[in-house]
Amino acid sequence: MTDTSVDLVILGGGSGGYACALRAAELGMSVVLIEKDKVGGTCLHRGCIPTKALLHAGEVADAARDSDQFGVLASFEGIDMAKVNAYKDGVIKKMHRGLSGLIKGRGIQYVEGEGRLVSPTAVRVGEDTITGGHVVLATGSYARTLPGLDIDGERVITSDQALQLDRVPGSVVVLGGGVIGVEFASVWRSFGAEVTIVEALPHLVPLEDEASSQLLERAFRRRGIGYKLNARFSGVERTDSGVRVSLEGGESLEVELLLVAVGRGPVSADLGYAEAGVGLDRGFVVVDEYCRTSVPTISAVGDLIPTLQLAHAGFAEGILVAERLAGLPVVPIDYAGVPRVTYSDPEVASVGITEAQAVEKYGADKVATQVYDLTGNGKSQILKTAGSVKLVAVKDGPVLGAHLVGSRVGELIAEAQLVYNWEALPGEVAQLIHPHPTQTEAIGEAHLALAGKPLHIH
Ligand code: NAI
Repeated sequence: MTDTSVDLVILGGGSGGYACALRAAELGMSVVLIEKDKVGGTCLHRGCIPTKALLHAGEVADAARDSDQFGVLASFEGIDMAKVNAYKDGVIKKMHRGLSGLIKGRGIQYVEGEGRLVSPTAVRVGEDTITGGHVVLATGSYARTLPGLDIDGERVITSDQALQLDRVPGSVVVLGGGVIGVEFASVWRSFGAEVTIVEALPHLVPLEDEASSQLLERAFRRRGIGYKLNARFSGVERTDSGVRVSLEGGESLEVELLLVAVGRGPVSADLGYAEAGVGLDRGFVVVDEYCRTSVPTISAVGDLIPTLQLAHAGFAEGILVAERLAGLPVVPIDYAGVPRVTYSDPEVASVGITEAQAVEKYGADKVATQVYDLTGNGKSQILKTAGSVKLVAVKDGPVLGAHLVGSRVGELIAEAQLVYNWEALPGEVAQLIHPHPTQTEAIGEAHLALAGKPLHIH
C-alpha cells in the first residue's frame, strides 16, 4: 500500500480527463491520471476514431460501387471485415501509442486501475491512495438501453459490440436516429446491409435544424436506408435467424441484428461520488459554468456532466479546469458555439442555434435565413454530392447559426464556427474571398446572399 500526494488527481483518461492532465502538467502541476482501461477513452477506443475509420471504409466501398459515374472502371466485390477491422484497429493503435507517449513526455504519473473517490481530496486504486489538492472526475459515459431491453451482445447490441463485429450483417434495425444511429446506418448501408432506423421523434438527428434533418432523410431514402419516424419500440424477441423487433402500433421487423443507440448515460454509480458530497442529477455530475461541482475541491468534465457529449467539448472542459486551477483567467464555454458533426454520408454539420431556436429567442420578424444549395457549388458537383448551407441570422445583425449537409461538410464547419463565435455580420464574411473551386465557397456564397449580393444563386 502506497500513498501519493500531488496537485491534481484525475479519475478517467478519456478526452476530458487526459486533456486536463496535459494542460495541468504544462502549467507546472504534478498530476496523477487514473484509467482502468486504456488512455483515450470512448473517443479513441469505442467512439469517434473507430466509427470514422469504418465510415471511411464505407466511403471507399461507395466510391468503388459508383466508380462508373466518373468513367473509372472498377467494381465492388465485397467487404473483408477482418481487413476493415485491422485498418481501424491500426489507426487506434497508432493514436494510442502517440497519446501514451505524450502523457509520459509531460511527466504525468499514469496509474492503471479502477479508482474510487474516498474523500473530497482522495482516490483509492486497489490498495493505494492518491491524494490531490484537487480532484477532477472524468469517468465518461456508457451506451444506454431502454427498460426491459437487454443487450445480449450478439443480436441485440450497442455501438461497443457493433465496432467489433466480424461480419457485415445482412439486415439491421437501428433503434434511435441520433448521431450514433445515423452513423452506423450509413456505414452498414455502404457495406451492403439492409438498414431500418426507428426514431421516436418526428425526424432523424432531431437536435439539428429541421432543414438538415429533411435533407439527410432525403439522401438516406435515395441510398435505400429505411427509417420510421414517430415510431416507438415496444419489444424484441429472438428468432431462429435473428430478432423480431416490435413497434408500438403493432408493426414488427425481422432482422439479423438490433443496434440500440438511444443515448449515452454518465458513468457515476458506485464510485463514491455521492458519499463525498458531489451533487448528482440523474447520474450526471452537476457543475457550474466553470465545471465546479458542489464540493470545492472537486471538478468534473466530459460526458459525465450534462453538457454536449462530444470529445472536443470534453477537451475544452479539461483545459478550462486546468487553467482555472492554475490561476489563469478562464471564460465559460458557449456550448452553442461548439461545432457538431455527424459523419454519415452525407455529413451533417452545425454550429450556433437552429432557425426554430432563433425564432423563439428573437421573434420571427427579427430572424433572417438563407439557404445556399450545393447544386451551385462546382466542387460539390464534381463530388456529385447534394446538400446545402443554411444560415440563420438576426435581421441586419450577426450570424446565429450555420447548418450544413453534404459530403465533407464537416470540414467546412470550422469556418462557420469562427463566424458564429466572432459574431460576424454577413457583410463582413461576404468580403472574404474563398478559393475556387472548393466547397468552402458555399459558405462564402451563403453570406454573400445574406448580405444582399448573391453571386451563383437563382
Ligand atoms: P442521441 O441522444 O444523439 O440519439 C438518441 C436517439 O434515440 C434520439 O433521437 C431519441 O429520440 C431516440 N430514442 C430514444 N428512445 C427511443 C425509443 N424508445 N424508440 C425510438 N427512438 C428512441 O444519442 P446517441 O446517438 O446514442 O449518441 C450518444 C452521444 O454520443 C450523443 O450525445 C452524441 O452527440 C455523441 N456522439 C457524437 C458523435 C459525433 O460527434 N459525430 C458520434 C457518435 C456519438
